[in-house]
Amino acid sequence: MKLQMVDVLGQYSHIKADVDAAIHKVLESGQFILGKEVGEFERKIAGYLGIGEAVGCASGTDALQLALMALGIRPGDEVITTPFTFVATAEVIGLLGAKPVYVDIDPRTFNIDTHLIERAITPRTRAIIPVHLYGQPAEMDAIIDISRRHGIKVIEDCAQALGASYKGKKVCTFGDVGCISFFPSKNLGAFGDAGMVVSNDKDCAARMRIIAAHGSRVRYYHEVLGINSRLDTIQAAILGVKYAYLDQWNAARKKAAERYTAMLQGTPVVPPYVLPHVDHIFHQYTLRVPRRDELAAYLKQREIPHAIYYPVPLHLQQAFAMAGNKKGDFPATESATAEVLSLPMHTELTEEQLTYITDSIKGFYAKH
Ligand SMILES: Cc1ncc(COP(=O)(O)O)c(C=O)c1O
Repeated sequence: MKLQMVDVLGQYSHIKADVDAAIHKVLESGQFILGKEVGEFERKIAGYLGIGEAVGCASGTDALQLALMALGIRPGDEVITTPFTFVATAEVIGLLGAKPVYVDIDPRTFNIDTHLIERAITPRTRAIIPVHLYGQPAEMDAIIDISRRHGIKVIEDCAQALGASYKGKKVCTFGDVGCISFFPSKNLGAFGDAGMVVSNDKDCAARMRIIAAHGSRVRYYHEVLGINSRLDTIQAAILGVKYAYLDQWNAARKKAAERYTAMLQGTPVVPPYVLPHVDHIFHQYTLRVPRRDELAAYLKQREIPHAIYYPVPLHLQQAFAMAGNKKGDFPATESATAEVLSLPMHTELTEEQLTYITDSIKGFYAKH
């Protein structure tokens, strides 16, 4: 059986004619940089989220950087985030000369533990970046409440959670800025790198647009130091077609997740815990499993793709030595890195494939 962790080409085959036509339209227009498809797609995402402003950029990583720059994060500032995330979340903090201050995770959801945030706040704290990991929203009510009481900004890392909602409201719309990634494997994936920042603050959005264009509003007049981070027109055209399927694709992922969880009942694996008041869109289906590395080797033998998101927490990465952390600082994160295992998750999974994968896991635990 041919299994894949993500199936970007399967999706493409269903909508090939429309995607190809959209690409050709851009090729024929010659408007490769900031063509009209970029603005059209920005308006689609703003409408989808019910947010005032959306600014395309080159990646989810750049989206985070633009947000931090527009909110005035400078060297010496502290930004609170989770150590259990993709490197980009904290990388941009460090690149700007600020310090990532980590807060451990809630072991059930793998998201930042909001009960631990306040003790990490210091007079230098300027912002907090919650990550909606694997597609499950972080506890936004508590995060917004803390940020208001302490006068700190909130940047939501929505890279893995476009379309997820918390108490009926879409993630990306709670904080000062929401950051989206359209990396090909994301729930709404481009055919290359792409990203977006969204905000209800017009001034902040305008600053992000300026920073993304070399700090200029008018060509060759530079108000601030900026970067070159534009949403590519071809990617915007592709995303403009794929966007129409986002909710349907998210529903397909949720259905696959439900099947996995039902089929894995009776095994010692711990299925994803879903908060009762959220809509989790299952960017990843991540289990907590006993004897993780042996199970991973067994799945490999049976040609079942799987992944460890993430094997090393950020506070123990060499690149973040400047944050001054050590082993043992964030025990919930450290045990998660030793126990998590993600199974294939995409919109094209069949019942037969799900059965094969889960039967293999059952087989492993029956033998071991
Ligand atoms: C949580 C998180 N933040 C940020 C990013 C960065 O996005 P990109 O790869 O588009 O730069 C990713 C994904 O790649 C991610 O998973």
